[in-house]
Amino acid sequence: MRQSGSPPARDRAVADFAAAFGGRPTALVRSPARVNLIGEHTDYNDGLCLPAAIDLEMWVALRPSPGAAGRGGAIELVSETEPAPARVDLPPPGTPPRAGTRPAPGWAGYVEGVAVMLAAAHGDLDGWQGAVASDVPKGAGLSSSASLELAVAAGCAHVTGLPWDARSMARLAHRAENTWVGAATGLLDQLACAGGVAGHALLVDCRDETVEPVALPEEVAIVVLDTSTRRRIVTSAYADRRAECARAARLLGVPALRDAGLGLLAEGAWRLDPVTYARARHVVTENRRVLDMAAALRAGDLAAAGGLLTEGHRSIRDDFAVSSLELDAMVEAALAAPGCYGARMTGGGFAGCAMALVERSRLDAFVPAVREGYRAATGRSSCVLPCSAVAGTAVEPFRDLCEVGPPGPQNSAGDGRRDGLDLGGHRC
Ligand code: GLA
Repeated sequence: MRQSGSPPARDRAVADFAAAFGGRPTALVRSPARVNLIGEHTDYNDGLCLPAAIDLEMWVALRPSPGAAGRGGAIELVSETEPAPARVDLPPPGTPPRAGTRPAPGWAGYVEGVAVMLAAAHGDLDGWQGAVASDVPKGAGLSSSASLELAVAAGCAHVTGLPWDARSMARLAHRAENTWVGAATGLLDQLACAGGVAGHALLVDCRDETVEPVALPEEVAIVVLDTSTRRRIVTSAYADRRAECARAARLLGVPALRDAGLGLLAEGAWRLDPVTYARARHVVTENRRVLDMAAALRAGDLAAAGGLLTEGHRSIRDDFAVSSLELDAMVEAALAAPGCYGARMTGGGFAGCAMALVERSRLDAFVPAVREGYRAATGRSSCVLPCSAVAGTAVEPFRDLCEVGPPGPQNSAGDGRRDGLDLGGHRC
């Protein structure tokens, strides 16, 4: 995570690459985090969600390994936030997968999982070396793992010359997380990180895996509100919620909760215990809120969009029970601050981040008011981050800024900022 005053992640990755491997990288991968506007815990119910890729990003500076042209070798990665490097000897373990093959512990397991799935789908991979620097906080509900998976997939695809298709790469990364790392999450995170569109949220249908960009009105900012509390999804109650939803669908006689409406839920209520009923009610009403939110954004009706966020937070707090005292306090602090249209927790829950839609012209007043409100309620400090919606994971060639000099290109996010020209106080 970027410390205030430290250079941008892109520059940190390049510097760390030189320190770890010597010389310069040949390419850079930019892989965004995601924030989910609405549609929480709907993805594994074949439902709808509305995430956006945001400009909290992971960067990987990379170079093909010496002698990698003849296939084989290894993928070697260092990360500024990990004490140990990740190394995957090629061909990766488990291709074809063998019973009893165990993933490497920690972050190396994600790197390995992506290599395993890519090799299974595309054959031999070429080796490469990379340094990872990231502004995506871990365990905060912003999909740091999907951001890493897609970054590794993009690095492998670039070095080996594989075609890049956002949807198939998202699926592949999702398989790595589910079947290799063993975290039974839905497809939301990978589709959002891979498929981001600058200035847009993504209306995702998790049944047919379609993604439709929805323009975000210019006058509104997405603000990420980090409670500074953390969870680990693998050990959280996430799996319990999945099981409760599957049970509700079974008892209601539908393939997935996506297929239940409020009418069917009312008719079948007698078959469900109160907890299972509440879980189902969240998913059924949340799918409706996603469609209403997409319509509100398209119509530029920010009051309606904000109301849906706040209603969504009540539903996930009371019916789905994955919020926390801190997330609730953060949402209350945001709702009380100037310029806020609505707020809710975002991501898997239990800890991490909330998000708010805020009138852009009132951000200066909003940010300190939320910080103070949250501190007064919890005694904790927080991080309040106005974000832009950006393009999904992408690779660009490395051009040394000392050689190129300004003016530089538009960044890959297409949002008017220029990548890499802000050297954070560092001069060539
Ligand atoms: C986590 C999972 C996603 C999704 C969300 C809740 O982020 O990785 O697949 O289920 O929780 O919406």
